Amino acid sequence: MLIKNKADFSSADITPESIYLRRREFIGASLIGSAALMTGTNARADAELARLNFKKTTRDTSGGFSTDEALTPYDDVKRYNNFYEFGMDKGDPEKYAGGLTTMPWSVAMEGEIAKPGNYPLEDILSWVDLEERIYRLRCVEAWSMVIPWVGFSLAALIKKVQPTSKANYVQFVTLERPAEMPGQRSRFSTIDWPYVEGLRMDEAMHPLTLLAVGVYGRVLPNQNGAPLRLVVPWKYGFKSIKSIVKIRFLEKQPPTTWQQLAPSEYGFYANVNPQVDHPRWSQKSERRLPTTLFSPNRIPTQRFNGYAEQVAGLYKGMDLSRYY
Ligand code: MTE
Repeated sequence: MLIKNKADFSSADITPESIYLRRREFIGASLIGSAALMTGTNARADAELARLNFKKTTRDTSGGFSTDEALTPYDDVKRYNNFYEFGMDKGDPEKYAGGLTTMPWSVAMEGEIAKPGNYPLEDILSWVDLEERIYRLRCVEAWSMVIPWVGFSLAALIKKVQPTSKANYVQFVTLERPAEMPGQRSRFSTIDWPYVEGLRMDEAMHPLTLLAVGVYGRVLPNQNGAPLRLVVPWKYGFKSIKSIVKIRFLEKQPPTTWQQLAPSEYGFYANVNPQVDHPRWSQKSERRLPTTLFSPNRIPTQRFNGYAEQVAGLYKGMDLSRYY
C-alpha cells in the first residue's frame, strides 16, 4: 500500500459436521467473547444458541463458489495482516488488536433504505444463514491467501433493510475508537479515520460478496476484522473492510480511504487485474502465503482473482484500465 512498512487445520477438517459443531462455539464466542470460549463456558454459549434459534449451517450454499486450492494455515491468516488501525507492520494487528472490545456490537444502517436503524449484531445474525466459503484473498501488495471464511451473503442483509430506488452505492465504515486502536492515535498516520470503503449496489448484491464473522470455523480473531468484516474476493484486499460499524446506502459514489490517499494508485473498483500494473509494481503475479526466502511460491495472478466467470458481466463495456 502507499504506506511502506512491512496450520493447525487442514482442509480435511472442514466437513459440514465439524463446521456445524464449531459454529456452536463460534456463536457462543460472538455472544460472550472469545475469552469465554477459551475458558470453556460452553453451557452459556449453548443457551444463547438455543435462544437465537440460528438456522442450520451448510458448507457452501453459494452455488459452488469455494475454491479447492490448499488453505493458508490458520497461523498465517492471523499473524500476517493489514489493519492500519493497529499499526503499519504486518505483525502489529496480532500484537495490538487483542484489546479491542467487540461485544456488544451494533451496525448502523442508514441512507436510502426503508428500514434504517442501529441493529445489534446478534439480531443481524438471527436473520441470516451462516455458511463456509473458501475464497482467495489477493492483496494489492501482491501476496495472497486461501481462507475458509464463515459468514453470510451481504445481499441477505441488504434485502432486510429494503433499499430505495435511489440506493446506487453502499458505503462501509470501520469503528473509530482511538483509545483501543493505537494506529488511530499515531502521529505518523496519514489515513483520515475512520477507514471507509464502498461498492456499487450490484457488486454489493452479488452472491460472492460476503460479510464474515469467522474464519477456520472460529470467531474472527480481532486482527482479521472482528466481529464483522467484508470479503469481496474478486477485488484487492483493501476493499474487504474490517470491524464495520456503519453501512450507508447512497445515490452517489462514496469516497474510499485508499482512493482519497492516492487516487492514481488505488481506484474505487480495485478489481484484481494482472493487465493493469500498480504504478510502482507489477500485478502480474503474486506470492501465495506461506512463503520463505527459498520457496517464494510465486503464481500468476488471475483476472478478477479467478472469479471472472461470476463477475466479469458486472463490468461489461467498462474500460478497466480507466476504472481501476
Ligand atoms: N480494514 C480496515 N478497517 N483497516 C485496514 O487497514 N486493510 C485492508 C483490508 N481491510 C484494512 C481493512 C487490506 S489492505 C487488506 S489486504 C485486508 O484487510 C487484509 O485482511 P487480513 O488481514 O484479514 O488478511
